[in-house]
Amino acid sequence: MQSTMMALRAHARGGPEQLVYEEAPVPEAGPGEALVEVHAAAITFAELTWDQTWMTLDGRDRTPTIPSHEVSGTVVGLGPGTSGVGVNDEVYGLIDFDRDGAAAQYVTLPAADLAARPRSVSHVDTATLPLAALTAWQALVDHAALKPGERVLVTGGAGGVGSYVVQLAASLGGSVTATGRAAQREFVLGLGAGTFDSTDGASPAEASGEDGFDVVIDTVGGAVLDASYGLTRRGGRLVTLAAPPDAGKAAALGVQATFFVVAPDATQLAHLAQLVDDGKLRPVLSQTFPLRDGREAFESATVPHPPGKTVLIVRADGRP
Ligand SMILES: NC(=O)c1ccc[n+]([C@@H]2O[C@H](COP(=O)([O-])OP(=O)(O)OC[C@H]3O[C@@H](n4cnc5c(N)ncnc54)[C@H](OP(=O)(O)O)[C@@H]3O)[C@@H](O)[C@H]2O)c1
Repeated sequence: MQSTMMALRAHARGGPEQLVYEEAPVPEAGPGEALVEVHAAAITFAELTWDQTWMTLDGRDRTPTIPSHEVSGTVVGLGPGTSGVGVNDEVYGLIDFDRDGAAAQYVTLPAADLAARPRSVSHVDTATLPLAALTAWQALVDHAALKPGERVLVTGGAGGVGSYVVQLAASLGGSVTATGRAAQREFVLGLGAGTFDSTDGASPAEASGEDGFDVVIDTVGGAVLDASYGLTRRGGRLVTLAAPPDAGKAAALGVQATFFVVAPDATQLAHLAQLVDDGKLRPVLSQTFPLRDGREAFESATVPHPPGKTVLIVRADGRP
């Protein structure tokens, strides 16, 4: 086994300008962990703004840091006492935010956070799922407890997370309205939204009927979150992903508002893989970059790009 690998790393806190493609030590799998050879890794544009990208949970600097917390790859090593996965298993997973990510040839993570990847799609498509689809599932099922027939508003329905919220909300029986840029209308309706409101067009209030939506999942934050309280019916559930809600505002309107941070969950990943293999959940790939161009991948957040997740191709040996 080689001792060094190529990785995308940042040595000081900042934005994409801090990212360098360089040689780094291959990480060692600890107890209960697996060493995964990365085939593809998805990025979240906002992750360079998260404290956990730069600091340990107890506040210590953890640079140099490796971004990208969604991995699809092959298990190539096991730490002491590791069970549940085996060498050569093709797996996917969400990597905790306070540890190095998958923008590298190898990554370690707890074997308990890995699931068999969907077999019907490529590693690149698989990498679009772990963080984004788990967030969507946990928002709708664990936090909003969506019931069939309920009216759901998804803000940012063409985004990395939003495109899975729309699909899963529809497949769980919700009546889905989504917002986004006007150019994204056909794409978002194709994911299963019944109604689309462009953010430069009419308010989605009409689509909710007089009462407001039963469930609102806000993936945008800012002014869009501000407007979301009033679009949720009294007694309805508002789940915010970009920022914690204003508890006072929610209470004044009788809205149950929740913020959460997605957590790895192998059982849910196995279920999502099955949905993909059954043709009930479509991976949404925006664009790909080779690992060495990872900085450009992060910079692409600010220029128009297709809907969905941006993926780094790490093992470009012709295998999908
Ligand atoms: N709490 C958690 O566990 C968790 C997990 C994952 C992500 N997040 C957060 O969730 C947010 C979304 O993440 P993401 O990866 O989905 O980001 P993303 O891929 O950039 O998606 C955001 C989407 O919102 C759209 N948008 C921007 N402004 C809008 C507006 N005014 N109205 C309607 N749509 C608008 C964007 O369109 P354009 O691209 O055209 O601007 C894009 O399609 C980020 O803040 C991220 O940090 C939280």
